[in-house]
Amino acid sequence: MKYKTKIKDATYSDDISGLLLDTSRQYTLQEIYIYEAKNITKATLKYLSAKPDKKLAPFDYEWLLQLHYEMFGDVWQWAGKLRKVELSIGIKAYMIPIELKKLVDDLRYWQEHKTFGIIEIASRIHHRAVQIHPFKNGNGRWARMLANIYLKQNGLAPTKWNENLLSKENPHRDKYILALKKADNGDYSKLVKMQSNSFKS
Ligand SMILES: Nc1ncnc2c1ncn2[C@@H]1O[C@H](COP(=O)(O)OP(=O)(O)O)[C@@H](O)[C@H]1O
Ligand SMILES: [Mg+2]
Repeated sequence: MKYKTKIKDATYSDDISGLLLDTSRQYTLQEIYIYEAKNITKATLKYLSAKPDKKLAPFDYEWLLQLHYEMFGDVWQWAGKLRKVELSIGIKAYMIPIELKKLVDDLRYWQEHKTFGIIEIASRIHHRAVQIHPFKNGNGRWARMLANIYLKQNGLAPTKWNENLLSKENPHRDKYILALKKADNGDYSKLVKMQSNSFKS
C-alpha cells in the first residue's frame, strides 16, 4: 500500500507495508518518524548509557540484524530482516549476507591489527553498512548507531549526529552525503572528520 503526504511543501511517498501501527488510519511521515525515534531510544539506552561490553555488543552477524530489530521492531514488521528487493542505494539483495559477513571479518582484522584508529574504524563500519543497505529502511540510522556503539565500546564519545539527517532541510545533509560519496572512493577523511565532531543544530 502506498500513500502520500505533504511535509513542508515537499511531497513524499513511502511504502507503509509492514507497518505495525494501527493501519486503519493514516500517518504522516513525521508521525511515523516519531514512533521510530521512540523505538530507537530503547536501543540508545541499552547500548549508549554506559560502555557496552563485547557480550552486549559483539559486532557479529546475528547482532547486526538484532540491532536493527531493536531499533525498529515496534514499528515495522521487516525490522531486522534482510531486504529481498533491490533499492536505488545499496548492493544487490542476494549479495547482502556475504557482504555483511565480510564486514564482520574485516572489522575483526582491523581491530586485531590496529589497521586504523578507532574513529576511522567507526567511519568504515558506518560507510560499509550504508553501502550494503541491508534493510528496507532505517539503514542510515542503524549505521550511525553501529558506529556510535563502536565508539562508546572503545572509550570514545558517540558522534552527536543531528538525527534529522534524513530531512532534506537539514543543512548538514549535503555535507554528510558528500562525505559518504568520498568514502565510496576510498577517501574516509571527510567522514572521519564528521564522525569526530558534534553537530550544532
Ligand atoms: N546518495 C545518497 N542519498 C541519500 N542517502 C544516502 C546516499 N548514499 C548513502 N546514503 C545513506 O543512506 C541513508 C538513507 O537510507 P535509509 O535506509 O532511508 O535510512 P534512514 O531511514 O535511517 O534514513 C542515509 O542516511 C545515508 O547514510
Ligand atoms: Mg529512510
